Amino acid sequence: TYVVTDACIRCKYMDCVEVCPVDCFYEGENMLVINPSECIDCGVCEPECPAEAIMPDTESGIEQWMELNAKFSAEWPNITAKKEAPADADEMKGVEGKFEKFFS
Ligand code: SF4
Ligand code: F3S
Repeated sequence: TYVVTDACIRCKYMDCVEVCPVDCFYEGENMLVINPSECIDCGVCEPECPAEAIMPDTESGIEQWMELNAKFSAEWPNITAKKEAPADADEMKGVEGKFEKFFS
């Protein structure tokens, strides 16, 4: 499966949503997550994310984000169409420690 990591927080470009063939993205206030039981591992979303927030679960150190994606994809609503990204998305791109500062 592919996994959304903390780089998505407050960037939330949603380009990923547009390309996913199985609509397995779920939307929180500050980031999206992927439902690991729905993702078919096609990989097309990974290069589409301007924040480079999406990674395969084979990446090292990804366990924390795998848990987060599994947990919140069961709670948050499904998102199937791209919306407008946050106004300060570009300023938030690449900022460190976003999980600690902004995740809610
Ligand atoms: Fe969707 Fe494919 Fe990305 Fe999985 S890897 S979330 S199926 S686009
Ligand atoms: Fe987030 Fe990247 Fe999608 S910033 S919403 S994972 S395009």
